[in-house]
Amino acid sequence: MKPRSILVTTALPYANGDLHLGHMVEQIQADIWVRFLKMQGHTCYFVSGDDAHGTAIMLLAEKRGITPEALIDGFHQQRLTEFAGFQIGVDHYHTTHSRENQLLANLIYERLVAKGDITTRSVKQAFDPVKKLFLADRFIKGTCPQCKALDQYGDNCEQCSATYSALELIAPVSVLSGVSPIEKESLHYFFELAHYKTFLQEWTQTPGHLQRAIANKLQEWFNVGLKAWDISRDAPYFGFLIPGTTDKYFYVWLDAPIGYMAAFKHLCAQQHLNFDAYWHKDATTELYHFIGKDIVNFHTLFWPAMLTGADFRTPTAIFTHGYLTVNHAKMSKSRGTFITANTYLNYCQPEYLRYYFAAKLNASVEDIDLNLEDFRVRVNADLIGKVINIASRAASFIHKQFANRLSEQLDDVGLFHTFTSASHDIAHAYETRDYSKAMRLIMELADSANHYVDAQKPWALMKDPVHCHRVQGICTQALNLFRVLMIYLAPVLPEIAKKVTAFFNVQAFTWQDSQVPLLNHTINSYQPLLQRLEEATITLMQNDAIIPVEPVKPAAATINATDDLATMEFISIDDFMKVDLRIAKIVSAEEVPDAAKLIKLQLDIGEERPRQVFAGIKAHFNPLDLIGKYTVMVANLAPRKMRFGLSEGMVIIASKPDGAQLYLIEPQVGAEVGMKVK
Ligand code: 2FM
Ligand code: ZN
Repeated sequence: MKPRSILVTTALPYANGDLHLGHMVEQIQADIWVRFLKMQGHTCYFVSGDDAHGTAIMLLAEKRGITPEALIDGFHQQRLTEFAGFQIGVDHYHTTHSRENQLLANLIYERLVAKGDITTRSVKQAFDPVKKLFLADRFIKGTCPQCKALDQYGDNCEQCSATYSALELIAPVSVLSGVSPIEKESLHYFFELAHYKTFLQEWTQTPGHLQRAIANKLQEWFNVGLKAWDISRDAPYFGFLIPGTTDKYFYVWLDAPIGYMAAFKHLCAQQHLNFDAYWHKDATTELYHFIGKDIVNFHTLFWPAMLTGADFRTPTAIFTHGYLTVNHAKMSKSRGTFITANTYLNYCQPEYLRYYFAAKLNASVEDIDLNLEDFRVRVNADLIGKVINIASRAASFIHKQFANRLSEQLDDVGLFHTFTSASHDIAHAYETRDYSKAMRLIMELADSANHYVDAQKPWALMKDPVHCHRVQGICTQALNLFRVLMIYLAPVLPEIAKKVTAFFNVQAFTWQDSQVPLLNHTINSYQPLLQRLEEATITLMQNDAIIPVEPVKPAAATINATDDLATMEFISIDDFMKVDLRIAKIVSAEEVPDAAKLIKLQLDIGEERPRQVFAGIKAHFNPLDLIGKYTVMVANLAPRKMRFGLSEGMVIIASKPDGAQLYLIEPQVGAEVGMKVK
């Protein structure tokens, strides 16, 4: 087989939040592929990094009172831990906020300018007069101009699916300051995508570049027409200044994919590699991007067009995967199925998820489901019940009876041959990203290994003086079958494979090692490789993942308590009467230790027992000051299960518009527990 030179990337996660299990689908998918290719003896580099620019990152830093640089540095460290925790073996994890990226972004931009692909024109946009910045659609909410649904984002309506511009919303407000945006004009820079129409049509439709479903989808977009892409954002913005300007920045999506090049450039400097061999327009190496289906247009239209326009090579292929659902639904914070990478790792071993995703993934763009019960049953049955069991059973005989020595011959050469000859099909399944097929083939082999051991019954033979000499050969056979299975599983379970090489007292596995048995060789004593996944562990993890849904607070701004009265929506008296407000006495109040914001209240409203309510008011009240006070609670709010227990209502609280100060509502003296407030 001719050794190939390959560069693989995964989409760069934004540096402003935790990774969750949805992110891990892609990282695990790519990592398995890279590990497989490396085991095959190919030269394969895997880079990723932080997507560190944009308004969201700028605003989060501002909210936390730190610089964007400090914010992204913090997330960079967190990412390294998350990646390592899931055994994602990137060769380098970089950031788009880097010197290499700025130089490459400028270079690509200037080459596009030279080609006449960059134009400018004035654009009218919503502007927040308080925060003094232009508002992207997701920072504006208002009433849908079509169906009049309240609280819709600035680009489309979740109720009726209408698409519109933010300026068309009825009574729009900036979610940053709570005030009405104004319309303002500014100069924007555009990349004339239509200049690349012919190239893109050919590139996207060339078999091998994209999955069929994606290529077909793009064909629809071509039919609609390719619009110029707005690549600039006005100050204030966290990103790179556009060369030749003093207040225009590259839109985050312009320099994000260039981050792939920058990450590799950094790796080249570290390892003395040849950057041009991977990025020059005539490069003969291979380049693959793993992405999710939400970012297809950036990678399959803008990115190849930018690369071609700037005289760089285009990707060999782009591999798109679907979304992750958990228990057949969108991940949900209130149901405890929005599981962050960190929460997962606090309870479960990464191998479980790596294997489960492998067992589910193929090369299609279909969504995959993590059913938590199926997950537990499957990893226990397959990894422990079928694979690891073979080793633990056979190793104990080899250890106790044969001083850890493997016999000189296999007991069943034909069966071993069945295992070695599966190598080609399994490798093909990995290569084509049909991991579910690879796992199925491997588990079928594992079944036959178990049948073999069950049929030979070494434990019974051991007690039989005439036949006990066969036990060493049978266990050597079983261990060799296990070894081949672990070689095949090594891309999915790299750390276990490493422990298995230590057990067998051999060097790191290559794919070829699967073809030759290990005989007449002293191994080490068996150490447990993986624990069973218990039901209680999943329950604990899910409970930990539950996040109470918090009311959306407007961000700090210099607005008065009454500023929003002008834009308020009216409700009917019937709507108001649906809310059952009662006078409540706070009989106990205590901080919830693990919750940054919560106080646990017991509220007496004249029922048999007080109601338990979790209130997000810890920063503003000393619990001791609350005990004994009377206040107003919403008594008919549906109870909510929170991580810390059931919340059976809500206290109403007055607050400044920026949420900086909260005030308890206390009734006039004389009001009694349980009285209705109308
Ligand atoms: O969608 C996202 O999460 C982006 N941060 C992905 C960027 S991929 C690449 F272009 F950097
Ligand atoms: Zn609507």
